[in-house]
Amino acid sequence: MLVSDTAAVRTAGREHAGRGLAPCRPLLKWPGGKRSELPLIAPRIPEHSRYFEPFFGGGSVYFDAIDSESYANDLHPDLMEFYRCVKHGDERFFEHLYSIVEDWERASLVERDAVYYECRERYNASRLTTVQRAADFFLLRELAYGGMFRVNSSGHFNVPFGRAYAENKNLREKVDRLRSDAAVAKMQRLNLSALDFADFLGCFEFRPEDFMFVDPPYDSSFSKYDTLDFAEEDQRRLAEALVGFAGRFMLVCKATPLIEDLYHGVEHLRVHRYEYQYKFNIKGRFSRASTHAMITNYGPLPSHEAS
Ligand SMILES: C[S@@+](CC[C@H](N)C(=O)[O-])C[C@H]1O[C@@H](n2cnc3c(N)ncnc32)[C@H](O)[C@@H]1O
Repeated sequence: MLVSDTAAVRTAGREHAGRGLAPCRPLLKWPGGKRSELPLIAPRIPEHSRYFEPFFGGGSVYFDAIDSESYANDLHPDLMEFYRCVKHGDERFFEHLYSIVEDWERASLVERDAVYYECRERYNASRLTTVQRAADFFLLRELAYGGMFRVNSSGHFNVPFGRAYAENKNLREKVDRLRSDAAVAKMQRLNLSALDFADFLGCFEFRPEDFMFVDPPYDSSFSKYDTLDFAEEDQRRLAEALVGFAGRFMLVCKATPLIEDLYHGVEHLRVHRYEYQYKFNIKGRFSRASTHAMITNYGPLPSHEAS
């Protein structure tokens, strides 16, 4: 399913980017977001003329560090419709959001779960227009337990209300922020599409001065975003596209045996490994260490290989 900006991206739309945009926090919560790894990622982003992100998710790198002409893609249709609505200030989208905000403000703290479950039921029943669905999708992400987005085998979103941290939320502020100057300015620079990454890459003729940040679903049994699976075969398709990529790219992923097999020893690639502490559960009360890899086709060689 495509969002309407996809056509523009297919013809490598020419919306132009200016300079000097203020950093902005991501507009919604997204699993696998790279906000905590920004201090490692941002200084290694090379000078570039165009920016590409085939697995955009919450777009933490774009919102924090990029102000060039940019192309964002993610296969998740509700997510990209959400960005489209924010970018174009879609009135029906904001009307729907503010009507829920009013229900939320009218409800007492103990009644707020009912507003959430109504939103969840509407979303699952697919009775909505794509625009209303994108609005409900945004609110579910804000209010679900642990910010999780999990669906059952019939594709129904089934996460309970996150009472402990959601019931006091100022939803109006969250929605207002989508219309803030910083968010609107960032969105104006972004061309959007909702394609499989390979189709997205097929839309462009890449040049050496292009930069692409690549943050695919992890190679693990947890690499399921909503109903999107990312299997070994997808990791292989991605590696094939990256090894011959004509611009510069940075791939960030978990360093699993498959990833080592796909990228280690490829002549023009640099593979840097680093330890990463995952925070999980509500309020990040638990953490688990794992090794991540940053793979680039530019920049200094890792120190152990440079000597
Ligand atoms: C690790 S997340 C990206 C997180 C993002 N960098 C951030 O900071 O929030 C990976 C994304 O890939 C998307 N995805 C999964 N399969 C895909 C595919 N075949 N093509 C494009 N996007 C895909 C998921 O919807 C998810 O948003």
